[in-house]
Amino acid sequence: MKITIINGPNLNLLGKREPAIYGGQPFEAYLDKLTALFPEVEFTYFQSNVEGELVNAIQKHGFSVDGIVLNPAAYTHTSVAIGDAIAAITSPVVEVHISNVRGREEFRKLSYVSGVVDGSITGLGLSGYELAVRWLLDRNK
Ligand code: DQA
Repeated sequence: MKITIINGPNLNLLGKREPAIYGGQPFEAYLDKLTALFPEVEFTYFQSNVEGELVNAIQKHGFSVDGIVLNPAAYTHTSVAIGDAIAAITSPVVEVHISNVRGREEFRKLSYVSGVVDGSITGLGLSGYELAVRWLLDRNK
């Protein structure tokens, strides 16, 4: 079982960035716990602040892995290219947002991603990534 986690812009700053919204834990520390929790899963992790690099990663993994867990961060609300890339691939995609984007600013309510993914998890903190992995495992049974 292969799962790729893709994080978008500014998620490299988790732990330092607006901790009241995004929590105090760096993603790498969380990823260590996640990989320990699912020894049967071969994880790959990619983070970029660059839109085209995220499109490249979706294309690269999206025809071979058993699932993608994607937090496109701010590009969720702006990127037709990321929405098109998700629509183009065959691997299932779960969209994760750490914060509850529906309860925040108006501009965060627009998503170019939600309509083309298999499902979305928002507002449950980093646990959203674990829930996404559990769903992908169940789907593969
Ligand atoms: C986010 C929500 C986005 O609106 C924001 O731009 C992010 C992170 C989240 O995980 O809550 O950078 O995707």
